[in-house]
Amino acid sequence: MRTVDLILRKRGADELSVEEIQFLVNGYTTGEIPDYQMAAFLMATYFSGMTDRELSALTESMMQSGETISLADIPGVKVDKHSTGGVGDKTSLICAPIAAAAGVIVPMISGRGLGHTGGTLDKLESIPGFRTDLTIDQFKAQLAELGLCFIGQNDEVSPADNRIYALRDVTGTVESVPLIASSIMSKKMAEGIDALVLDVKVGNGAFMKTQVEARRLAQAMVGIGRRLDKKVQALITDMNQPLGYAVGNALEVMEVSQTLQKAGPADLTRLSLELAARMIFLAKVTPTLDEARKLAEDKLMDGSAYKKFRQVVQAQGGNPQALDRFDLLPNATGMREVISPRAGFVSAIKAEDIGRASQMMGAGRMVKEDIIDHAVGVILEVKVGEKVEAGSVLCRLYYTGEEHLDEAAELVEDAFRVSNARPEERELILEVVG
Ligand code: URA
Repeated sequence: MRTVDLILRKRGADELSVEEIQFLVNGYTTGEIPDYQMAAFLMATYFSGMTDRELSALTESMMQSGETISLADIPGVKVDKHSTGGVGDKTSLICAPIAAAAGVIVPMISGRGLGHTGGTLDKLESIPGFRTDLTIDQFKAQLAELGLCFIGQNDEVSPADNRIYALRDVTGTVESVPLIASSIMSKKMAEGIDALVLDVKVGNGAFMKTQVEARRLAQAMVGIGRRLDKKVQALITDMNQPLGYAVGNALEVMEVSQTLQKAGPADLTRLSLELAARMIFLAKVTPTLDEARKLAEDKLMDGSAYKKFRQVVQAQGGNPQALDRFDLLPNATGMREVISPRAGFVSAIKAEDIGRASQMMGAGRMVKEDIIDHAVGVILEVKVGEKVEAGSVLCRLYYTGEEHLDEAAELVEDAFRVSNARPEERELILEVVG
């Protein structure tokens, strides 16, 4: 089998066999297939798509590229949550401790920032000392003790995704249904879960720009779950403006802490509670979804979710004091305001451009070797629908270097639209699949 022939066939939209897909995934994981050939295959897949059979083969080959964790010896139902990627999307850090505080076992294997979207691992690593590179044994021990552990894919869990994900980030091959579905489901199915809640983002800040595409992605992932005998439920949620106010790693951790202490933005709190409720319901902790919603709210309101998050931070080597004393988190050295040129209503905040500006300042990677600057990002002062005056602050850019600052500021200025008429309210949770 020659890699170039498989690339040519995929470019021509041929269906590859299970063995051919295994050959590509194994070859790339072991280093026999170089980056440039895998990048060409990914681009061919981006344009040609994959059949259900190919998608299952790709997901399973990626899953089998590493260890499949068994959590059978830990009592309780194991449920995880994963997002397809958004801007300011820090819900995992909120819904996971809520669900764990309600008695769900949450083994969370997360990813890094991809393109203009942030990643849970990068956010967590902005907490001084926080380690996400635990061994599987450490992961299991923490799950048994605290019911929640956050780790990254190391070379033990879906190493193929680890490598392909980083390559997609820098080769323009992120926004593809089979590539996103296989990436998410390979690591999720390898982590020994019983059920999974997915947050499929749709809108200009998401990889899926239309609800039809988002539904296709949701159905693809729910289908993979069903074929592997796991209960998977997907919420399709709006990503036409950033979630919450903070975008950028340490800035988002600050907002997580505020939200877990009941002082978070309404949209972020609402979505995190709904995701947690779905996790609680799938774990069968409550007989109905409404009871799960009530339990999620109780665990947020009585402080037990925040306590759980602090315990997890401490257990993973992080300094939990940084969640109350933000001066202990990485802090930017400079701040620039973006001002509204006119009075009116904020009618749009293009999430993708806010994410790109933040990435450009160092919150995300431009090439795969880039080191993240955890301190930088954007804090919105207003959200869509709010009234502003001419000269009022729309948002603040936090930076540590000025190299890309002007470009980032221009992008952010253009991301805001201020109109005379108040925009129609948009639903946050649009659809449930599965
Ligand atoms: N999240 C992932 O884990 N993989 C993707 O491809 C996109 C979002």
